[in-house]
Amino acid sequence: MKPLWFKVAMATNPGLLVRLGAIGAVLLSVIAAFAHTGGWLSPVRLTQDRMMAAFREANGTQVGFRRNHAKGVCVTGWFEGNGQVAAISKAAVFKPGRVPVVGRFALAGGMPFQPDAPNTVRSMALRFVPPGGEEWRTGMNNIPVFPVNSARGFYEQLLAFSPDPATGKPDPAKIKAFLAAHPEAARALALIKKRQVTSGFANSTFNGLNAFRFVDAAGASTPVRWSVVPAQPVLTAAAEQPEAGDENYLFDDLIGQIAQHPRQWRLIVTIGQAGDPTNDATQSWPEGRQQVDAGTVTIDRASSEDSGACTAINYDPLVLPAGIEPSDDALLSARSAVYARSFALRAEEEDEKPPSAITPKEVQAGGKS
Ligand code: HEM
Repeated sequence: MKPLWFKVAMATNPGLLVRLGAIGAVLLSVIAAFAHTGGWLSPVRLTQDRMMAAFREANGTQVGFRRNHAKGVCVTGWFEGNGQVAAISKAAVFKPGRVPVVGRFALAGGMPFQPDAPNTVRSMALRFVPPGGEEWRTGMNNIPVFPVNSARGFYEQLLAFSPDPATGKPDPAKIKAFLAAHPEAARALALIKKRQVTSGFANSTFNGLNAFRFVDAAGASTPVRWSVVPAQPVLTAAAEQPEAGDENYLFDDLIGQIAQHPRQWRLIVTIGQAGDPTNDATQSWPEGRQQVDAGTVTIDRASSEDSGACTAINYDPLVLPAGIEPSDDALLSARSAVYARSFALRAEEEDEKPPSAITPKEVQAGGKS
């Protein structure tokens, strides 16, 4: 039995009903699209919010800080390109000459006040801004491979290694279950554990880990990975012991070294061959791949990330100039989405943020300040 309003509308204006039906359908599809984007339709879909919740579960709420690599310091300097990769990438940054860089050294993990420790993963992030050219941002870690090869793997790893509220420590059973479900992570973590850990940030090699593609002026595309390799002498971690209670010794050393003399790294590009995996950051490429030295990164200033040049930078790995393109690694777009949410949260929370652990006033090589 049709309601009275329907019978009246059919008799007087049937076209109106058709239009109302169409509007209703559009509204429903908009609501469905929002629900889909928000992940409300699929309780297991991994969204930016779910990833942020996992960071909260692992680290507590750290107002105003980056949700990962939370403890860090800003640096600046320049990149001097030598033109040697210009044949395979048309990016302005690779032309011979100087390009200003704004960087950040950090420790992995979402705890902004964690004590420095040799085995904690160290990172270097760089933003290259060629005058008149398109900028390039990259984040690199001092590990040979990434522990996971998917956003889902990252999420599950975060939860598996989160402290159990009862003990304050990760639950070994959860870690075991994670490793059983992610054999690629078990293999990668074994390689990471075997790496040579150096005495500090300044003599660490930092690896971009994800594969990208270089594109030349004619459109030819080459799979690549990149690293920065220190010019400073490499000493083992045992060469630098913190004094009792010195929780920031790695950062303090770096800042002290930069104040004395600029620190340098070679930007080394590794060229992949057909069949080398470009979509899996847990897998390294075979030994002996061609490597090209693209130029030198020089860092000559450090400043607190509370007011420094890197504070407002989101080191999104997909901020790429023409001449560098993403590979087929899905981790890249996941990183881009999650970094954006982390950035938005810390920007909103700026007024409530406590000071960072590392707060040098600006330090410049040669003792100038
Ligand atoms: C799905 C996988 C990953 C997730 C969810 C993730 C998450 C995050 C988040 C939330 C931040 C803080 C961003 C900000 O607020 O500025 C961050 C920073 C960083 N991540 Fe990742 N990450 C992932 C994979 C990777 C990979 C593969 C690398 C490879 C090198 C990497 C290197 C870095 C570095 C170097 C930083 C520090 C950037 C800085 O100093 O500001 N991440 N990551």
